[in-house]
Amino acid sequence: MARIAYVDGQYGPIDRPAIGIEDRGFQFADGVYEVWSVKDGEFLDHPGHMARLKRSLAELRIPMPMSEAALDVALRETLRRNRLMNALVYLQVTRGVAKRDHAFPAKPVKPTMVITARPASFSAVQARAETGIAVITRPDERWKRCDIKSISLLPNVLAKQAAREAGAFEAWLINEAGEVTEGSSSNAWIVTGEGVLVTRKADEAILNGITRQRVIRLAAALGIPFEERPFSLEEALSAREAFVSSASSMVMPVVRIDDRAVANGAPGSLATALREAYLSGADG
Ligand code: PDD
Repeated sequence: MARIAYVDGQYGPIDRPAIGIEDRGFQFADGVYEVWSVKDGEFLDHPGHMARLKRSLAELRIPMPMSEAALDVALRETLRRNRLMNALVYLQVTRGVAKRDHAFPAKPVKPTMVITARPASFSAVQARAETGIAVITRPDERWKRCDIKSISLLPNVLAKQAAREAGAFEAWLINEAGEVTEGSSSNAWIVTGEGVLVTRKADEAILNGITRQRVIRLAAALGIPFEERPFSLEEALSAREAFVSSASSMVMPVVRIDDRAVANGAPGSLATALREAYLSGADG
């Protein structure tokens, strides 16, 4: 079955050209996106993703392309037309089509909105979680507003490609202070030797992951000591556990950082407990 995409009010085959050449998403990466995991037909953490979408759009002064209720219908309809129950659903909204000029169009234009869905294999993700993943480190070369979920992802793309070429699953980005900010498409966490869960606070240097926010609530419910602060690469290398969080990986243990084992090189017990709590649908 051909994959079906939603493009500006129409559902059609994903390979049909449908976006204007002068779309500002294509010309300037002038847009935002969201990603949902859908499990057994349920959009996980739906309100959080919707709230972040609205925030990202507002930060860039792009209007919501339609009401939240209408958007909800379009998301579900895209899933239905692709006959998927377990999926990753992607939404992109750009400032729209206008004659090429860096500044915003003088007359407001209609934002472009695209929704796509593709099958997700939760069993493959689970198998990966059971062995854990390797990460490499790269300099964080991104802009200073990583809190906006912008489609401008070139540094993230290059970091992920470097990870792939090194046989790793993710790249952790290191800022000029030697701190791990986050992964190329995930948030970064460690558990210290004293058993304290640590992740960077959600400042402008990272994307405030919806999964991250849920893990913080789950940790509180499980009584896990937690500190929201930066951690250095050195601290990560001597941590008891490390993991990443994202909509697609949920909670994913990290067992190697730059070819050095994290603790005994096996997934940690807190990461595993948080992953199970996440999958059980608990919400702290
Ligand atoms: N990535 N940090 C970055 C840079 C990300 O791109 C993502 C998500 C996250 C985690 O956010 P969340 O928990 O809301 O998924 C953190 C998505 C999955 C992607 O780009 O595919």
